[in-house]
Amino acid sequence: MYYQKLDDFPKNFLWGAASAAYQIEGAYNEDGKGPSIWDTYAHTEGNTYKGTNGDVAIDHYHHLEEDVGLMAKMGLKAYRFSVAWSRVIPDGEGEVNQAGLDFYIRLVKLLKENQIEPVLTLYHWDLPQALQDKYLGWESRKTVAAFAKYCRVLFETFKDDVKYWVTFNEQNVFTGLGYRWGNHPPKVTDIKRMYAANHIVNLANATAINLFHEMVPKGLIGPSFGYGPVYPLTGDPNDVLASVNADDFNNNWWLDVYCRGEYPYFMMKRLQAMGIAPEVTAADQKLLKSAKPDFLGINYYHGGTVQTNRLQKKVAADDKKDFSSTDPYLMQPKEDQAQSPEIPMFNSVSSPYLEKTEWGWEIDPIGFRVALRQVYEKYRLPIFVTENGLGAADQLVDGQVNDDYRIKYLADHVLTMKEAITDGVEMIGYCAWSFSDLLSWLNGYRKRYGFVYVDRDDDGPKELKRIPKASYYWYQKLIADNGADV
Ligand code: BG6
Repeated sequence: MYYQKLDDFPKNFLWGAASAAYQIEGAYNEDGKGPSIWDTYAHTEGNTYKGTNGDVAIDHYHHLEEDVGLMAKMGLKAYRFSVAWSRVIPDGEGEVNQAGLDFYIRLVKLLKENQIEPVLTLYHWDLPQALQDKYLGWESRKTVAAFAKYCRVLFETFKDDVKYWVTFNEQNVFTGLGYRWGNHPPKVTDIKRMYAANHIVNLANATAINLFHEMVPKGLIGPSFGYGPVYPLTGDPNDVLASVNADDFNNNWWLDVYCRGEYPYFMMKRLQAMGIAPEVTAADQKLLKSAKPDFLGINYYHGGTVQTNRLQKKVAADDKKDFSSTDPYLMQPKEDQAQSPEIPMFNSVSSPYLEKTEWGWEIDPIGFRVALRQVYEKYRLPIFVTENGLGAADQLVDGQVNDDYRIKYLADHVLTMKEAITDGVEMIGYCAWSFSDLLSWLNGYRKRYGFVYVDRDDDGPKELKRIPKASYYWYQKLIADNGADV
């Protein structure tokens, strides 16, 4: 219970909504765009729900004016989108494809004309396929050089018009799912390779931040991290220790590198002892130390509860039960499964206190306040919430979508964010996920997140009509009142 009067949201608080290129654009092979690893992955049978892919997605590429028009009508203050690297540089490192770049120039111009602050994400998972083929993608330092070249093109193009930039979206998620659990491209299941690839991404992140500070001195840049607080299942000190381990393993491993420029000591020692630590040279250390983000992007969906690994001894024999042994598209570890078979530090379990979405994601607005407090206390960087939202199988009934459950979800989270601001957390803005319905990477089009319904399903694009949901009008009012009524 809160008895204190809550602070107002800051005057220039950026109420926004977010998206990502592969999930909305479509036009996957138009105007010179090269293939990305997601094009290839989703075109391979069995990799995604019902073979859904982003070939057409919601065809934002051909609905640009209409979509930005809806954002403007809503009163959106910020729009977070990502640039498809292979649209701008089709083979990842060669010639610039002007037609592809022009699409983003038009988008940014339209946003600015409508007083919507663009928030540009450089990398939301769609690596150019050519870099995967040539260099094994993030397993090679050559990809860092290619990324720097791509960043240079965007920094040069948008340095005067885009203030807020995100380097990598959820590095923890795409390296984990891509290199360890094998549920995202490049479908590798090798923990050592995951740590190695993750280190290369850290170098790319630091390189991009340093380059940005040279080229765009007035702008602000940071990574968007998928953060969840970790709860011990009980007060048993063994469970508490498990939660400390999980926090190191799930959060600090990335955040300490971003914000302190160094890997967390305990975990590094453990990984080294197991022979799976990344190779970090003195030059790497220097680079990581030199790059400081200006803000921290936080994507918050839920945290996690853990207990001590009661299966410790059995793990080796029981081995490698992974995500694919349950629903491959759920992206949730199996109940009471050692999250880390090779490193039996903790087991993930369901919280007995929290309800779940239709897709089994825990709903935890208080955890949002905990998350904001923890991250701000530890790293003292302004926080930009770059994603938060509810995936649900919305129904269009008589031309309307009454998503009151989404309104409740968002309102509960906005309230705890206001409490966190009252606690003292410095915040730039909040981008709900997502502006319109879009492709859920592995779950197709049934799992909807948007304020705007898009008339398409897993079987095909239909008319792609845009229909504002009840939550659209709710958010419109909230923005107009600067969250005064939550
Ligand atoms: C985040 C991603 O992990 O979660 C988004 O940054 C994604 O791109 C969102 O869509 C929701 O995940 P899902 O699996 O429900 O689509």
